[in-house]
Amino acid sequence: MKQTCVLSPARQLTGEEQSLVWQKPPSHIESEAEKRIYQEVVRNWNRGEMKISTILLEGDAGSGKTQLAKALSADFNLPYTKITCFADMDKSDVLGSILPVLSEKDKSNMVEYQYYPSEIVRAYENGWLLEIQEPTVIRDAAVLMALNSALEPDGSLNLPTRIVHRHPDFIAVITTNRGYNGYRPLNEALRDRVQHAEKIDLPPKAVMMERAKAKTGYHSESVLSLLAETIILLDETARANAIKGVAGMRSYIFWVDAVASGASVQSTLDRQQ
Ligand SMILES: Nc1ncnc2c1ncn2[C@@H]1O[C@H](COP(=O)(O)OP(=O)(O)O)[C@@H](O)[C@H]1O
Ligand SMILES: [Mg+2]
Repeated sequence: MKQTCVLSPARQLTGEEQSLVWQKPPSHIESEAEKRIYQEVVRNWNRGEMKISTILLEGDAGSGKTQLAKALSADFNLPYTKITCFADMDKSDVLGSILPVLSEKDKSNMVEYQYYPSEIVRAYENGWLLEIQEPTVIRDAAVLMALNSALEPDGSLNLPTRIVHRHPDFIAVITTNRGYNGYRPLNEALRDRVQHAEKIDLPPKAVMMERAKAKTGYHSESVLSLLAETIILLDETARANAIKGVAGMRSYIFWVDAVASGASVQSTLDRQQ
C-alpha cells in the first residue's frame, strides 16, 4: 500500500491519515474529468501561482461530484474529509469552537474549556483533501469570509486559540448542485479562489450503463440501454422546460436495480416521476 503522498513524496501519512484515504471500490469508473483534474493538479503542483489547490465541481445531484472528490483522495493518496454546508452555519463551524468539558485531572468536577477544531481546520492544517458541499447555501457574510480566507493560497486562519497556516498539500474541492430549487450561485469571492472548475452533467450513455452495471450487477444491455435513453430523454425534456434535477444518475441506478430485481419497467418508471 502507498504510504506517501503523490504530490509530496517526502511526506509520510500517519496510520490515522492513511485510513482516511478513500479506497476505490471495484465499481468505480475513472471519468475523463478525473483524469483531467489529476493531470492538471500534478502538472502545476510545483509551479508557484499556477498551483491548483481549489477545485470546483458543478453538476446535478447524482452526477458523481462526491465520488470524484473521493477518487482524487485515492489518486493523490490524501486523506479525505468533507463538510456539508447549511444556511445557518456560523463562524465556529469554520474555525472550530471552544467547549466546556469536565476536568479529568481530578474528581472536583471543575469545568475546563477545550478547543475543538472543525473538519475544515483539521484538513487545512494537516494537508488533507476537503470536500466542501454546497457552500452556496451559506447566508452569513462572516462565514463566507472565513471560508474564503481559508481558501487563500498561502493563507492562515485565526483560531480562538492560535494561528494555523495552510498546509501545502491542502486541497479544497467545492461541490455544488446547479439549478435545484432555492439554488443560488456561488459567492463571487469564493469563485475567485477556484483554480480549476468542471461542470459535470449526466455522463455519456455508455458511462451511465457501465456505472449501473458495476453498481447493481445487472447486465442486460438492451434494458440498461432503454432505461438510460429514457433517463436522458427525461433530463433533456426537463431542461427544455427549465426544470432541473428530475432524472439523473441516482434515479437511473435505482431504476435499474428495481428492474433487475423483477419490478416491471413501466410501474417503476411511474414511480420515478
Ligand atoms: N466514477 C464513478 N464510477 C462508478 N459509480 C459512480 C461514479 N461516480 C458516481 N458514481 C455513483 O453514482 C452515484 C452518485 O454519485 P455521487 O458522487 O454521490 O453524486 P453527487 O455528489 O454529484 O450527488 C453514487 O451511487 C456513486 O456511487
Ligand atoms: Mg455529493
